[in-house]
Amino acid sequence: MDMGAMLAGKRVLVTGASSGLGENFARLAARCKAKVVIGARRKSRLDALAKELTELGAPEVTVLEMDVASEESIDAAFAEIDASGDMLDVVVNNAGVSNDGVALKLPTADFDSLMAINVRGVWLVAVRAAQRWAAAGRGGSIINIASIQGERVMNGITPYSTSKAAVVHMTKSLALEWARYGIRVNAIEPGYIGTEMTDVMWETDYGKALIKRIPMRRLGKPEELNGLFLLFATEAGSWMTGACVPVDGGHLCSSL
Ligand SMILES: NC(=O)c1ccc[n+]([C@@H]2O[C@H](COP(=O)([O-])OP(=O)(O)OC[C@H]3O[C@@H](n4cnc5c(N)ncnc54)[C@H](OP(=O)(O)O)[C@@H]3O)[C@@H](O)[C@H]2O)c1
Repeated sequence: MDMGAMLAGKRVLVTGASSGLGENFARLAARCKAKVVIGARRKSRLDALAKELTELGAPEVTVLEMDVASEESIDAAFAEIDASGDMLDVVVNNAGVSNDGVALKLPTADFDSLMAINVRGVWLVAVRAAQRWAAAGRGGSIINIASIQGERVMNGITPYSTSKAAVVHMTKSLALEWARYGIRVNAIEPGYIGTEMTDVMWETDYGKALIKRIPMRRLGKPEELNGLFLLFATEAGSWMTGACVPVDGGHLCSSL
């Protein structure tokens, strides 16, 4: 079964596509000859990526300056997608942020801003996509990028872990609600992968000790999420919904 070929011609929206995992998913979709819609706040980075995606084989690339913390911005992005007359097939809720800080000292504003992106943003994008699919009498696939932090906790990042646990639960609950419409909702739970979000940590003693606790004793690479991504995105995973699957070098089953 060639899952890459099954994505050819499909229209795939990736939020947070201006770096890291989002950039990787956009490149994968382009190599599979999908039509790629890339959204994030840093438009200059999206413009540079758009050129690369065309070279990689995407038959169509749409750049959307999009802030998932803003309902207006999301509505404007969907209005642009609607205006093209071509519906989305796959929506990847990848945009996300983390912040450090012990709970006793974390400003409330930091908690609120993280939740607005990591939880409310996922909800707003998912609902808009599903409303269009349900109205058109067709299905679609939503892939939420959660985290192993959605299953286990770690010191000093309570809002982040809480937000990812919310994404895991939202994935299962929306899968239940939308299965009748043929809309599948699944989540990838990545372990630690070197991206701009985490890069500063890996050179520290804390970071090096953390890598030793991963059973495979190394960080993951963004492309190591691609197999699961294609399974969720295509008909290869046609009976999968509400699945939240870790890809983490064994980190979640590390010894207690
Ligand atoms: N790297 C890891 O180890 C790891 C592990 C588990 C889960 N994850 C999850 O994977 C996803 C991607 O993270 P990453 O590691 O690739 O981090 P990253 O390189 O920092 O990328 C985060 C992306 O999210 C976008 N973003 C942030 N706030 C946004 C907003 N308000 N509106 C729209 N886009 C926004 C950023 O684009 P702009 O700044 O241009 O808007 C950027 O493209 C996140 O959900 C993260 O929680 C990562």
